[in-house]
Amino acid sequence: MEKNNLFEKIPMTGVKNIIVVASGKGGVGKSTVAANLAIALARNGLKTALVDADIFGPSIPVMFGLEEVRPRVESSNGKDVMFPVEKFGIKIISIGFFLDRKQSLIWRGPMAANAVKQLFEDTQWGEVDYMIVDFPPGTSDIQLTTVQKLNLSGAIIVTTPQEIALNDARKASSMFTNPDLRVPILGVVENMSWFTPAKHPEEHYYLFGRGGGMKLANEYETRLLCQIPLVMEVGEAAEAGRNVFQQTDKVAVEAFEKLAGQVIEAIETRISN
Ligand SMILES: Nc1ncnc2c1ncn2[C@@H]1O[C@H](COP(=O)(O)OP(=O)(O)OP(=O)(O)O)[C@@H](O)[C@H]1O
Ligand SMILES: [Mg+2]
Repeated sequence: MEKNNLFEKIPMTGVKNIIVVASGKGGVGKSTVAANLAIALARNGLKTALVDADIFGPSIPVMFGLEEVRPRVESSNGKDVMFPVEKFGIKIISIGFFLDRKQSLIWRGPMAANAVKQLFEDTQWGEVDYMIVDFPPGTSDIQLTTVQKLNLSGAIIVTTPQEIALNDARKASSMFTNPDLRVPILGVVENMSWFTPAKHPEEHYYLFGRGGGMKLANEYETRLLCQIPLVMEVGEAAEAGRNVFQQTDKVAVEAFEKLAGQVIEAIETRISN
């Protein structure tokens, strides 16, 4: 394949900023961070979109209670155009909307990457201030294609505080710092940083170690955007398709609000520089 062709960008007309949420290791909280960051941005009055690029385990439909929903598809000039599903003020597209859950699909790398490319290309997005992309774990064809084909404003790296997760996070970060791709790392989110029992709000239990997020941020000369504690309601809300911002536990909500503020600041500083 010619280099020009490989790096030709998809024109995302009307979309101002695209930010990917990545990690090396699975299960560290990418989808949780992507979904709640999108909710927090939308609550700030920003036009927000969320793309679930996790073709092997899409979790956004469940997190937003949209398992049975199918996006509207219209034919325009002989081409099918998808319309995102709206929930909590966010325009959402997930590969999960198009998969039959009973059927297990085996996607080969290039096929998966092409399907993800279509999610961006064939959707009628309209005006969007922030588009958040939930990546699958690791650095496969899906991530590479997205990074090559889109003009990204930045990447957020999610890690848990332990050393094992950090090693994988380093691999994911290297993809963005690669000289051919060069995507700014907006910062690191440390998830599951500590646990605080409801009855002892002053106590912090560091179940998965301490300091990993800051260490990674220093290594990549970026900042630690926020630390998100382990909060039962965050997991429960995700499973039930509820909005965690409507729950009583404010600790997690405050963390996601802080994250949104930091992301907006990081993007605006870059734009003005
Ligand atoms: N801060 C948190 N407090 C409580 N539960 C959490 C928190 N963050 C994530 N979880 C839970 O941990 C599990 C993994 O999170 P999530 O699905 O967001 O990770 P992921 O990195 O997207 O995983 P995958 O690599 O499989 O895509 C989920 O059940 C989620 O609800
Ligand atoms: Mg996920």
